[in-house]
Amino acid sequence: MTVTYLLLVAAVMMLTGFIVMNELEDYHLAVKQENLERTGKLLAPFISSQIHTGADPYRLNNVAVDFARQINARVIFLDEGRIVIGDSRDGELLGQVLSSPEVEEALQGRTGRSVRHSRLTRQQVLQMAIPLANGQKKGQGAIFFSASLNPLDETLAAVRGFFVLATLFAMTLTAGLGAVFAHHLSGPVKELTAAAQRMAAGKLDQKIPVTSRDEIGELAAQFNIMADSLRETKKRLTRFVADVSHELRTPLASIHVCLQSLQHYEMKPEEQREFLQDINQETQRLIYLVEDLLDLTRREEVADKRVIIPLNLPINEVLNVTIPRAARKELKFFTQVPENLPSFNISPDAFKRVLFNILDNAIKFTQSGGWLKLSVELCEKDLRITVQDTGCGIPQEELPFIFERFYRVDQARSRDLGGTGLGLAICKEIVELYGGTIGVESREAEGSIFYFTLPLSSA
Ligand SMILES: Nc1ncnc2c1ncn2[C@@H]1O[C@H](COP(=O)(O)OP(=O)(O)OP(=O)(O)O)[C@@H](O)[C@H]1O
Ligand SMILES: [Mg+2]
Repeated sequence: MTVTYLLLVAAVMMLTGFIVMNELEDYHLAVKQENLERTGKLLAPFISSQIHTGADPYRLNNVAVDFARQINARVIFLDEGRIVIGDSRDGELLGQVLSSPEVEEALQGRTGRSVRHSRLTRQQVLQMAIPLANGQKKGQGAIFFSASLNPLDETLAAVRGFFVLATLFAMTLTAGLGAVFAHHLSGPVKELTAAAQRMAAGKLDQKIPVTSRDEIGELAAQFNIMADSLRETKKRLTRFVADVSHELRTPLASIHVCLQSLQHYEMKPEEQREFLQDINQETQRLIYLVEDLLDLTRREEVADKRVIIPLNLPINEVLNVTIPRAARKELKFFTQVPENLPSFNISPDAFKRVLFNILDNAIKFTQSGGWLKLSVELCEKDLRITVQDTGCGIPQEELPFIFERFYRVDQARSRDLGGTGLGLAICKEIVELYGGTIGVESREAEGSIFYFTLPLSSA
């Protein structure tokens, strides 16, 4: 990261330096050209008239020397035959022919200019020729300037030096800050990695200190939440396996005892039949238990088999089974189910499982002579299904646990009634998967009211 920052800073500084130097060079050249041109144009009428009137060449030479000093350039005057009639450098070229592209351009009546590299002085040189005119007549001679651009090179060198220094300073600063920042960033990331590795190795009790409020801090906080939830899941899984083993052991132990008795003792046929009946009953219970367990594991799969179905259909199917059951136990069964309930996008099997278990519980836990009632009502946001009974009720302190797996208020009694304690746990999972809620109100010895809802958004 630090190296990337360093490269970035170096690239930006170099680019900026390059642009600034170029701009500076252009600007300086433009100013210099403008100066020479302005001087040339000021001087041109005077020189023209001097040539015209055939002035003393020494005088012209002096004029060239004077101006050269003022503008810091070599000044040469030429007549129309390109013959030098004034040279600021001690009249060096006086009387000689000076021919150059700039001069040719000036003799055509235009200003000629160029920048050259003088091999002799190893300098950049700006050369300019301003045309002289006599009235309307062009090409009457030229004023030739030659100015060194050396002062500009010095300025540029100074600017370049400044940029090099500034780049070094910026890179040092970046390296320092980058190292501090990278350390600040990579420290917690390394810690997270180490904790994740420990977790992968099975040590789930990891907790990372959250030291900042930035993204890294948030990551650490989320990591801790994930670790908590993994621990909780593991704990629940262990408890679940323990509960299942316990539930499986009880009927298996009974079967084992019956089989041993049959194997080791002489028995009358009716005694044998009794033992076999016990074995049959316990086996049946094992089958129910395994079915419930399968239901639990396949819950999402089952609940996901959704179809759009008018709710009256599955309700009636459940009633067809439960009403005769209630009648056999001499229970009155009231129903308050509107016809033409809306259609819902749900799995009919999952829905029937929920309703059946709640009605089945009401029948199981209500004494003969009592009653139960199923009511279905459409509320503002959901459909509410309520099952009320006049059964044994549930003690207040047991209510919070009633929806937990394998939880039965009276273990022995519920088991005798053929229950595994998984019914309500399955109901809760299904209802919540569909976005509804499930709950209970109950008073011991008076009865219970179980209810669950289905959001109308799935209607
Ligand atoms: N209507 C009710 N009246 C009184 N107690 C109830 C009622 N419904 C449930 N309970 C209590 O809640 C416990 C859990 O019910 P749940 O339906 O989960 O299990 P179960 O009926 O015992 O077994 P399963 O439904 O798996 O056959 C029951 O064992 C019972 O003690
Ligand atoms: Mg039940």
